Amino acid sequence: MEKASVSSLAMAEKSSEEMVVSSDPTTSPQRVLTIVESDSDSVQNESDLQIPDYLQNTYWWAYLHPNAVRFFERQWLVNLILWGNFARLRDHALAEIGDRLEGRNLQVACVYGDFTPKVAQRLAPDARLDVVDIAPVQLENLKKKIDGVANVHLQRQDSTRLRIADGHYDNTIVFFLLHEQPLEARVETIREAVRVTRPGGKVIFVDYHRPSLINPFRYVMIPILRLLEPFAMDMWRKEIIDWLPESMRPAQVEKETYFGGLYQKVVFTR
Ligand SMILES: C[S@@+](CC[C@H](N)C(=O)[O-])C[C@H]1O[C@@H](n2cnc3c(N)ncnc32)[C@H](O)[C@@H]1O
Repeated sequence: MEKASVSSLAMAEKSSEEMVVSSDPTTSPQRVLTIVESDSDSVQNESDLQIPDYLQNTYWWAYLHPNAVRFFERQWLVNLILWGNFARLRDHALAEIGDRLEGRNLQVACVYGDFTPKVAQRLAPDARLDVVDIAPVQLENLKKKIDGVANVHLQRQDSTRLRIADGHYDNTIVFFLLHEQPLEARVETIREAVRVTRPGGKVIFVDYHRPSLINPFRYVMIPILRLLEPFAMDMWRKEIIDWLPESMRPAQVEKETYFGGLYQKVVFTR
């Protein structure tokens, strides 16, 4: 039984066949990847892994401050923030990967509440879930929530430049991250999520979306998002697929919206 572990320094892969980690921080993960053949977490220079400006400047109160974790890590609160839709949206994301989660799976960025524990519950015995996040405090928090769960691995990584080989994962989940990122970071996160997912695999995004004109929450959310989430309104203006270059477009794109269009699930099948 493998226990959940936080590796702030590296992505480590137990399998000898996988190419996962670039040992040279100056090297783009797309160009050169170093084969890791170790049963222990490998060590990688993390000096180039920095908290992005948008997280530091805009979201420090939500994700970086230790009090943020103490305050927000409440199931009822994350549910309230999504107007009572957290469980429903979580379950729509989970439905995409099925009752039994096989193979290699990636969650890009931690989430308050029971999102990861619920994903972990579905893992087949020989399946694996990797969760990456840039904020050490979030990884530490998640570690407590999934401690003792086999086959869940936490790694400090930047979603905009994942140190992961092309096509490594069967499924990749990005739950409510895109709306927090400014355009450049969002585009890179989408590209990276697609790049690390194998042909035929799924990339699942759940995030904000433009609500219908008759949805009263449309008018409630505009000032809230403008005040607290300055990049989120971008999700109202453009489809996620349109941030992906033509050359990377997946074979299939499915989109569902919920709660009068305020939320969306978009699934790319590569
Ligand atoms: C997934 S989003 C928010 C999800 C949801 N609102 C919740 O309830 O937590 C927040 C997470 O994204 C992480 N994050 C933001 N930018 C990131 C990046 N470039 N790379 C990796 N993680 C990032 C933050 O550290 C934070 O843990």
